[in-house]
This record gives sequence, C-alpha cells and structure tokens, in this order.
Amino acid sequence: MHGSVSPDSLTPGRSGPWAAYADVDAEAAARANAASWTRDADDYLAEHGAVLGAADFVWGPEGLREEDARLLGPVEDLRGSTVVEVGAGAAQCSRWLTARGVRAIATDVSEGMLAAARSLDAATGIRTPTLLADARSLPLPDRSADAVFTSFGAIPFVGDAERVHAEAARVLRSGGLWVCSVTHPVRWMFPDDPTAEGMGVTRPYFDRRPYVETDAAGVRYAEFHRTVGDHVRHVVSAGLDLVDIVEPEWPAGRDVTWGGWGPERGAFVPGTMILVARRPVSGPGA
Ligand SMILES: C[S@@+](CC[C@H](N)C(=O)[O-])C[C@H]1O[C@@H](n2cnc3c(N)ncnc32)[C@H](O)[C@@H]1O
Repeated sequence: MHGSVSPDSLTPGRSGPWAAYADVDAEAAARANAASWTRDADDYLAEHGAVLGAADFVWGPEGLREEDARLLGPVEDLRGSTVVEVGAGAAQCSRWLTARGVRAIATDVSEGMLAAARSLDAATGIRTPTLLADARSLPLPDRSADAVFTSFGAIPFVGDAERVHAEAARVLRSGGLWVCSVTHPVRWMFPDDPTAEGMGVTRPYFDRRPYVETDAAGVRYAEFHRTVGDHVRHVVSAGLDLVDIVEPEWPAGRDVTWGGWGPERGAFVPGTMILVARRPVSGPGA
C-alpha cells in the first residue's frame, strides 16, 4: 500500500533508489522500513489521508469499513475492552474505536507515523493512546488484549512476519481475535497499474523474493510477498485457529485509486486479503 512494486517504474541512479526483486537481510529491511515510514509519513498521508479518514476504520482500498464488516465483533461488545492495533500508522482505526469507548492502543514502529497520529488527535479531539513498538516484539504482557488487529500494517514490511502473528497470539487472551489485512497475494503477479494495461501477469506468484529499493547507503525500503498458504501457515504456527479469509470486492461506483488498486482492475482481481483468527479457548486461568 506504500509504493510501487514495479521496478520498471523507477529510474535507477547513482544516488536515487535502485529497485529489484532480491533477497535481503530481514533486520536491515525492517530498519530501513521504519526509517522510510517516518521519512515518507507526510507525503503518504497527503496522498492517502482522505481515503483513510481521520477517525475511520477501513480494512483496505476497497473501503470495507469495520462498522459494516464487524470482523472484530460488534463494537458495542468491545466497549471497555483492550484492543491493540499493530502497524497503526496515524491510528485512524484505533481512533474510531476510541471514539466508541474501546480502550484501543495504537502501536507502530515509525515515530513519524505516530507524530501524525498526535496531529490527527488534535484535529479530531479524540486522544488515542499510542506506543512506539515493533509488531514483532510488543512491550505488552501476555494475554493483555481482548483483540489485536492491523489494517495493512507491519506484515508486508518485515521478512519474518511469523513473528508478528506469534506476538499477536501471545498478547491475546484466550478466545481473543487477531484480524489482519494484507495485500492480496495474487496482486503480486500484476504490475502496479490499476487500469486495463495492468491486467497481464508479469511476476511468478511463487517467487517470494521481496521488492527492494536500495541506494548508495544500502536498503531504503522493502516489501514482502507471501502466498495465501504462507499466510495461513504463519497463523496456524502461532497456535491460532483460522476463522475466515475475507476478500473484499471492489464496490461498484467506488472511484478511488491507490497505487495498484482501482475500480478498473478491481472488478477482476482481488486487492486485499483479511485473515481472521482466534486464540483457542483454553482452561481456567488461560
Ligand atoms: C500502510 S501503513 C498501515 C497503517 C494504516 N492502517 C494505514 O493504512 O495508513 C503501514 C504501517 O506499518 C508500519 N510498520 C512497518 N513495519 C512495522 C513493524 N515492524 N512494526 C510495527 N509497525 C510497522 C509503518 O510504520 C506504517 O505506519
């Protein structure tokens, strides 16, 4: 959701980024992405802020709203519950929950995105608790959350996403839900062009090498692809029960484009996949 996944669209240069599908060190990529999200926070929100809203909860560019989808359950039932958002960005989703009486905690690895969250707090008058944290290592106690979620946060930007799922499972109470939206894996096969020109498959679905931008100083940005099976295995290996895989359809008449997402190709190709999983209910004290 951040940028291009088409190396052809980038101009290679001595000081500018070079783009390639290439293996990359997981820690170098995570560090580069945290810096990238801070560097680009203002531009990103200038471009996409209107689609995201300031205190709205959308699961992806198709505009599926939590208010309608209720993937975390009816929000009235969450009132007073602790809900942790990872990769929260400017905390729009947590702000929507906060306004409805949920004790939401918006966590993100980027200081720039959390600074943007505070600006939106000031603009909306809704103070949303935030926490600077890598989703792979949350500074939160075991079983302290009633639900954990992310809308396109963290997972595409780390090479070891299984750790994100494991952390969600760790902080969830027994029976709690983990819901995460990611780029739909089939999107990886297509260029970053949401028009009819972008309908042809140009990349192998099974090529897991990440999209990596580098400059003279090293990795600047990386985005990771997993197949549907990879995502499911990450959820299951975290000890969670997979409840559903939601694939939002592009709504007729929705005239929004976001990178490779848009109405023309969206009528044919899915853009977003949402995994819904539950920590199994265990015995007393769990
Ligand atoms: C596409 S935004 C998603 C946030 C928000 N829902 C939105 O749509 O703008 C991706 C977010 O993931 C965050 N992120 C990237 N790597 C992360 C990590 N390892 N841990 C936590 N957050 C991470 C970025 O800082 C960024 O705010």
